Amino acid sequence: MAKSDRAKAERRIEWLISEIARHDALYYLRDQPEITDAEYDRLRRELAELEAIWPDLARPDSPTQRVGVPATEASFAPFEHRVPMLSLENAMDEAEFRAFDERVRRLLGSDAPVDYVGELKLDGAAVELVYENGKFAVGATRGDGRIGEDVTANLRFVLSIPPALATAEPPRRASVRGEVVLPLRAFRRLNRLREARGDEPFVNPRNAAAGSLRQREDVDVVRLRSLEFRAYAIAEGLPADTTTQFAALGVLREWGFRVSEECALCADLDAALAFYQRVLGERERLPIEVDGAVFKLNRIAWQQEIGNLPRSPRWAIAFKFPPQQETTVIEAIDVQVGRTGALTPVAKLRPVFVGGVTVSNASLHNQDEVERKDVRVGDTVVVQRAGDVIPQIVAVVANKRPRGARRWKMPSHCPVCRSEVVRLEGEAVTRCPNLDCPAQLANNVRHFASRGALDIEGLGEKLVQQLVAQRLVTRVSDVFRLDAATLADLERMGEKSAANRVAALERARQTTFARFLYALGIRHVGEGVAQLIADAFGGDLDALMGADQAQIDAIEGVGPTIAESVVRFFADERNRKEVADLLALGVSWPRAAPRRRGEGPLAGKTFVLTGTLPSFTREEAKRRIEDAGGKVVASVSKKTSYVVAGAEPGSKLAKATELGVAVLDEGGLLELLGDAP
Ligand code: IVH
Repeated sequence: MAKSDRAKAERRIEWLISEIARHDALYYLRDQPEITDAEYDRLRRELAELEAIWPDLARPDSPTQRVGVPATEASFAPFEHRVPMLSLENAMDEAEFRAFDERVRRLLGSDAPVDYVGELKLDGAAVELVYENGKFAVGATRGDGRIGEDVTANLRFVLSIPPALATAEPPRRASVRGEVVLPLRAFRRLNRLREARGDEPFVNPRNAAAGSLRQREDVDVVRLRSLEFRAYAIAEGLPADTTTQFAALGVLREWGFRVSEECALCADLDAALAFYQRVLGERERLPIEVDGAVFKLNRIAWQQEIGNLPRSPRWAIAFKFPPQQETTVIEAIDVQVGRTGALTPVAKLRPVFVGGVTVSNASLHNQDEVERKDVRVGDTVVVQRAGDVIPQIVAVVANKRPRGARRWKMPSHCPVCRSEVVRLEGEAVTRCPNLDCPAQLANNVRHFASRGALDIEGLGEKLVQQLVAQRLVTRVSDVFRLDAATLADLERMGEKSAANRVAALERARQTTFARFLYALGIRHVGEGVAQLIADAFGGDLDALMGADQAQIDAIEGVGPTIAESVVRFFADERNRKEVADLLALGVSWPRAAPRRRGEGPLAGKTFVLTGTLPSFTREEAKRRIEDAGGKVVASVSKKTSYVVAGAEPGSKLAKATELGVAVLDEGGLLELLGDAP
């Protein structure tokens, strides 16, 4: 902003002050913030920057002049901090951290590196604990840094706050500062409980910790016990021989406080940067929420030499981690078609820096997910990116929805090939059913050529990619149209390998019905199911293509979902054409002898199958009997010619014995079939 924009700046400052005050109240008094920390920091920074350009516009009530907010009404007794509880300046990136180090050394007049203590920046509620003659006397929140709230009664339940200092010679008065945090596990448990009770869950562990500390009525002791106090400073009562922050942490440990184990002495700037990187890397594994590293000038004499600003010390800084949550706006919702034909709605975001990267897309997974979160184009949303996890949309900021924003719906047609999409009963995923949809083609060709399918040797990932990219293959069946000359023209393919590929294609043309069915890539038809269907239909593709859902469902081991998927597949004209083309291109399999009624060695005989046969599946046995002219029925009657019994037969065997029906084992059946050795 140019200096001439003074009037504009004044209005902006006014707005920023009231907005920050509003968010402070939500955050400190109600423990229910509406915006992310990163956004809040940005408001404060913008205000500080404007005040730096126009110092005369800085108002005495500006939040840049104080810490936190004044303690609440009368409910907790006010407690005055003898030594003000300061806040910390933030560094958002390495450049800002380097600038901090330079400023420190300039103020000290030192060209040489200075040593820092690296600590965790604990994301909780700051408290001061006062010990009188070694006994815990008062504990208070930070409040506005000068006056906080006396929450002693609640703090007494926090297990990591020692009731007495573990030292024979305690100072008359010691003031210990640290952070009350709620470990993540306890945080999740607490929120589960709250939600079960219908209470609003806490936004983050810090608010939960602060909220727990400030309970007044019906104090939940369990909640207090799950809090943890971690100490990081001695504001009063520092032993005279303690001259560094690092030594002070040691004293705190001796006195019986928990100090974060990660704290480390950093000899110079590089060591400090390494500490930051290390903690950042461990962040996800820590049991508590940590939002950065704090660096403090190690030597206390030097701290005193360079002193404090009104709000924060000059000798310490919080080097923040990249925020893991940010808000941004959804500019569009696109639909991507994956390699398996799944349609995935993807939110196109106004680019936002979150979790260390700029995010401009976030998956919305499927239609149900979009509906559950009710995400709409134009919405402001909270985006989260933690660790290496893909960015997620956590929630919609309800009060920022533009008027007229419409509910989102999955398109009815594939955005890539325009086929009508399908969503099977009970499935979350919407799919493009077109085998030759360009989005799916490479994947389908790979599957088609894979070992359990047509087993086309040498048709690997790279080659398939090339073929699809050069449009030499636009449908699966095109692979059988490839000739040696075309293949030899491809990159990294000599005549010899081209000839090998052609020979492999030739071999693959001779297959089995089961392999062929599996190769088609029908949803839910894996190798096993393909075998069951192939057995049931005895290689008769026409019969399968003409079958209805009930017929397929009737096959043992095949359920309604599979049956529906098969029928749908063959109902699609493109798939029928593709199958016809494959046959025309020479794909074939041995078929079982065509069945003709009333012919064959078993003509006129009825069979009932029970139990497990040693080498046949039930379907195979049925087919063999039918191929030989026999009939297989479900239940035993006097008219039954034979009961074929395998291992663990059911009640049908008993029935057969009762009615005097002949019982065969597998050998007996093979004999009848004329197959016996
Ligand atoms: S020292 C004079 N050390 O961060 C320095 N503070 O943003 C005052 N915090 O108010 C604080 N971890 O609530 C210090 N290792 C740490 C900290 C820490 C978290 C909090 C504390 C402070 C706030 C400043």
